[in-house]
Amino acid sequence: MKIIQQIDALKSYALSCKKQGKTIGLVPTMGYLHAGHQSLIRKSAAENDITIVSIFVNPTQFGVGEDFESYPRDLAHDTAAAEAAGASVIFHPTAEEMYPKGYHTYVSVQEITSVLCGKSRPTHFQGVTTVVSKLFHISHADRAYFGQKDAQQLAVIMRMATDLNMDTIIVPCPIVREPDGLAMSSRNTYLSAEERKQALVLSQGLYAAEKLFADGERSTAFLKETVRQKILTAPLARIDYVELLTYPELTPCETVKSQCLLAVAVKFGTTRLIDNILLEVPEK
Ligand code: PAF
Repeated sequence: MKIIQQIDALKSYALSCKKQGKTIGLVPTMGYLHAGHQSLIRKSAAENDITIVSIFVNPTQFGVGEDFESYPRDLAHDTAAAEAAGASVIFHPTAEEMYPKGYHTYVSVQEITSVLCGKSRPTHFQGVTTVVSKLFHISHADRAYFGQKDAQQLAVIMRMATDLNMDTIIVPCPIVREPDGLAMSSRNTYLSAEERKQALVLSQGLYAAEKLFADGERSTAFLKETVRQKILTAPLARIDYVELLTYPELTPCETVKSQCLLAVAVKFGTTRLIDNILLEVPEK
């Protein structure tokens, strides 16, 4: 497996793969890879000749006072984890390589970035869409793989790819959970033992609402309240939001009539966790 740090080197490599008729899958990550990332890499490796895994803690998607500096980093671990899952190349640029002196261009998706996480992280998605556009251009990817855990990010990237007529196909991938239900995240590592235990209320609340939905409940307010009440049983939890919106449009709805996203963001100390489920109305 190659490790490439320079943009020009990755572009030349990708173009030479293309000339040989090979397909390229891209798995954009910020590193500290876990089984969730590995599931994306495995899917890409199964569907493409070449899989590029980018490992870049992207400064433009962190707000002031967020965890950019302390975000966990471990390239040796990531190299082994990516290779074990079938990656062909790791792209690991520096911040200066991605955003050199004089850099002034940003990609910004409107409307759907101002709800959910966009409310408390107003500059976050512009950083994500900017870096992901750059990665699409640099890697010449045919397909790019994103986890449903970051459901809003996925909706924003799909919107961007459609609106800007990008050739890269966006492939959504299911959430990977710990055996007890906690959605996998590089940030889980910040949790104390007690926070880790109480963090189970996120998935438990979502599952309780999912069960009610399966039994026929369609009221947005009732489903949201079910999740909220479960989260409130954890004394260390501070709710940022419990929200139910149509998906992927992310518009409000009083009752669930089409595919909807039930999503939560909850803080434990300084650690902000997100989780969600998709509610699909069965066809008649
Ligand atoms: O989901 C992430 O890890 C990041 O937001 C991404 C897509 C790699 C962009 O930096």
